[in-house]
Amino acid sequence: MLTPEVRKMWGGRFEGSLSPEAQAYSFSLQHDVRLWKQELQASAAHARMMGITGMLSPHEANRIVDALLEIHAEIEEGEWLPLEEYEDIHTAIEARLYEKIGALAGKLHTGRSRNDLVATEVRMWLRERTTNLARALLELCQRLMQLAEQHTETLMPGLTHQQHAQPVTLGHHLMAHCWAFIRDLSRLAHAGDRMNLCPLGAGALAGTSFPIDRELLAAELGFAMPAPNSIDAVADRDFVAEYLFVCALLMVHLSRLAQELILWSTPEYGYVELSDEHTTGSSLMPQKKNPDIAELIRGRSALAIGNLTSILALLKGLPLAYNRDLQDDKPLLFATLDTVVPSIRLMSEMLEKAHWRVERMRAALRGDFSTATELADYLVRKGVPFREAHQIVGQIVRECIQRGITLEDLTVEMLQRHHGRFEADALEAIDPERAVCARSLLGGTAPEAVLKQIEQAKSWLGVIEHQLNELLNPN
Ligand code: ARG
Repeated sequence: MLTPEVRKMWGGRFEGSLSPEAQAYSFSLQHDVRLWKQELQASAAHARMMGITGMLSPHEANRIVDALLEIHAEIEEGEWLPLEEYEDIHTAIEARLYEKIGALAGKLHTGRSRNDLVATEVRMWLRERTTNLARALLELCQRLMQLAEQHTETLMPGLTHQQHAQPVTLGHHLMAHCWAFIRDLSRLAHAGDRMNLCPLGAGALAGTSFPIDRELLAAELGFAMPAPNSIDAVADRDFVAEYLFVCALLMVHLSRLAQELILWSTPEYGYVELSDEHTTGSSLMPQKKNPDIAELIRGRSALAIGNLTSILALLKGLPLAYNRDLQDDKPLLFATLDTVVPSIRLMSEMLEKAHWRVERMRAALRGDFSTATELADYLVRKGVPFREAHQIVGQIVRECIQRGITLEDLTVEMLQRHHGRFEADALEAIDPERAVCARSLLGGTAPEAVLKQIEQAKSWLGVIEHQLNELLNPN
């Protein structure tokens, strides 16, 4: 039977105990149970280190490490699970250790605190989850690059202000989304670098007088180095805020792409048909095919933005060092990561399974005046100042609209009435294929430029992948 002192980690100075309501309000096991593996790893590293520095005999250290391994197996096999009655995962595991090895369990907590433990374990958990997140993002980028490669010659109207602006290629447009995700991946790698310092040894806040080898602990647990300041080590949650920012921005990027898929799958656009796997019907209207998954991705960006705002609010004005407020970083982090990874995966899947109706995109360029700029540029090449050329072509567009015709209906004679420099080849300028192919400069929408851009994206991704590998697989 466990003594009350073991069921919780404190109690000696108290006569009474927490009210049931206060207990329910403050216990965090339902959230931090997710840190069980990290709790066991950090504890085993601590025990081994204690054996090396003489804080425990080698025999004691081995007994603790073996018992921790047993607990690991028990949890993995579902034989024992931390129960709700414990305050948090640290308390639950220590109590289980006590059940296994008795009073020796009480030596493990020498020179450490839940404050440095939790700050360490959240970092470790996040590092592990970064692998999944990074893989999902990388796959999304690869999917977009693959689609872009298939659509370097698929023309569509490029928009500004939601109005037809100039023709672009679908490949170019998809790569624009891809670059945003490449930046997200790079932000993830950099945030990971800053997070990768080990708080263990900071104790509650002031460090410890026991011979704790912080370098050894950091190395054992895969960190780049020990955190340099014991107060900062337990009070800092910048890494949580940074991750939540990276996730929020990433979800915002996903929401922009989702919104385009939603628009493009309307009958008005008809650029894309989403697969049955990612759409739903209506309980009332038999004809409906709704883009629910894209809508949910768009909508769930709200949760990521909200959680970013919450962590900033949680930290605002919080005095150093540890305060219990910090316990509530975890639900925010967990819920965000739980949302972001499936959102990315589903977006990749949706892009893969979508049917792209390229003829509809091409048709949308007919009669849409989106090559009017080409006519102005034509005059510029003949020596007319751009401002004047712009004015003249504006008048041509106005005349077309008044007469109910399009640029394609223009004749050379009509053009010449507006400016004497127009010649027969001016009519070729308004061809969208030609307009697109002419934009072969670096970063342009011409097929060859988009292919170069894809190569560039691949090499950037290679560099980021390398950075991430160093972070995630340090040894
Ligand atoms: N459950 C706590 C948290 O997640 C662990 C640290 C508790 N420390 C304390 N002094 N109450 O933040």
